Amino acid sequence: MSDLHDLCKIPERPITSKYIDSLNYYLKNGIPATYTIEEAYNFTNNIESEPTTTTTPLHLICTHIPKDLLEEEIKIVTQMVEILFEYGAGWCFTDINNDTPGCILIKRNLKHLPIYQEIVNAGVRAELLLRKVSEFDMEVIEDTDDLDHEAFGQIEENVEIPDLVKEEEEVEQDDIKEPTEKSDTMEKTTSTKNQESAKSIEIDDEPEAPSQNQQSYLNTKLEYKNNALVTKDRKDGVMMSWETEIMKMGSDSLAKGSYIEPSEKDSEINILNIGFGMGIIDTFIQQEQPTNHYICEAHPDVLKKLRDDGWYEKPNVIILEGRWQDELPKLLSQNIFFNGIYYDTFSEHYQDMLELFDLVVGLLKPYGIFSFFNGLGADRIVIYEVYKKLVELDLENYGLCCKFIDVEVPEELFKHESKEDGSIWDDVKRSYWSCPIYYHPEIKFMDF
Ligand SMILES: C[S@@+](CC[C@H](N)C(=O)[O-])C[C@H]1O[C@@H](n2cnc3c(N)ncnc32)[C@H](O)[C@@H]1O
Repeated sequence: MSDLHDLCKIPERPITSKYIDSLNYYLKNGIPATYTIEEAYNFTNNIESEPTTTTTPLHLICTHIPKDLLEEEIKIVTQMVEILFEYGAGWCFTDINNDTPGCILIKRNLKHLPIYQEIVNAGVRAELLLRKVSEFDMEVIEDTDDLDHEAFGQIEENVEIPDLVKEEEEVEQDDIKEPTEKSDTMEKTTSTKNQESAKSIEIDDEPEAPSQNQQSYLNTKLEYKNNALVTKDRKDGVMMSWETEIMKMGSDSLAKGSYIEPSEKDSEINILNIGFGMGIIDTFIQQEQPTNHYICEAHPDVLKKLRDDGWYEKPNVIILEGRWQDELPKLLSQNIFFNGIYYDTFSEHYQDMLELFDLVVGLLKPYGIFSFFNGLGADRIVIYEVYKKLVELDLENYGLCCKFIDVEVPEELFKHESKEDGSIWDDVKRSYWSCPIYYHPEIKFMDF
């Protein structure tokens, strides 16, 4: 454990500007803001292997700040976190419990503190930066092997280091175990709907798995079973009936785009749904009797379902067989515009959504509404909130404004406890939902 770690364990109250001085001192003298207690432990104990858990100074602050912080103390702690971020602290490294600093605050009911928002903002910045960096051929150096660990425990000159950081503490052996990979970005792999959202911190499925890779998904057999659509062999949940209310909200949002003015309905109402799945949203859309109801679907087994269930015979239904990436550009060239567009696919990532936004701006009528199943990062609250902000920012760049409507999610969905009478997630490989609130997006062009 280094002095920096000791400081971040908040050994003394009240929390005053002495903390800021000490923190600045350690960081200026070269202790990385990402220096983990695992790295310090391995160094002290001559362990050469790379630690796999990453308990950073930010984790320690989130774990140790008292719950009864005074106003002044909140300001100091916020400043400490800002300084750590200035020096490159990570917002989504995970500790022994697989918790990010934000997760710790949520578990401790401290989400209301400004430092939680600091963490979310840092997540947004990290994602935007990663996107820029990946546009170029740049290398990000993460390795801290060549750091002077010894010095980290010895920086005690020139600053009046309060008693709070003098105590030598041993890291508990139990604190150092083996969980996840060190990475501070959600990376391009965060999926729109599958079990691997927040992928970079929970590496589970291999890149070629159907949940990760479109081609392998499209080659995988699907089955409709127990109110769900799943991949036959692996039981990835593609669509589940618990989302019915969410689909109803989606259809209701699209219906709002039928009005040119509050009292003037459009003479031709075109709706586009991308991803048929179980046909839940399409059933709601049909009830609104749009002039033209386009359904874009890529998977052969789902297309068979559409055929078996008579969707091809419905007079106002037009089925676009294939991936939206191939089918939507054709609509652009046919000058077809939509009052409502809904997007809910599987095995796609946020990068795909960014590409979709390019098409949506061209296909949406000026008063039309775009919405999507918002499962971005939904297996971890803090990441879900980072995506909420990112989506707003990204859409703003297209002149689109995104309003989120909060929907409470039943506990049985996000508390993944096994129950005697079974859980919603029993028949699927892994749950893709862990948040108590669903943020339903309703997107339209900004008023200028
Ligand atoms: C989650 S389900 C959609 C569920 C639907 N919203 C409902 O209410 O039942 C996702 C669907 O998107 C389809 N899909 C996945 N990638 C696609 C793509 N690139 N283009 C078109 N459809 C795609 C899948 O085959 C699947 O049928």
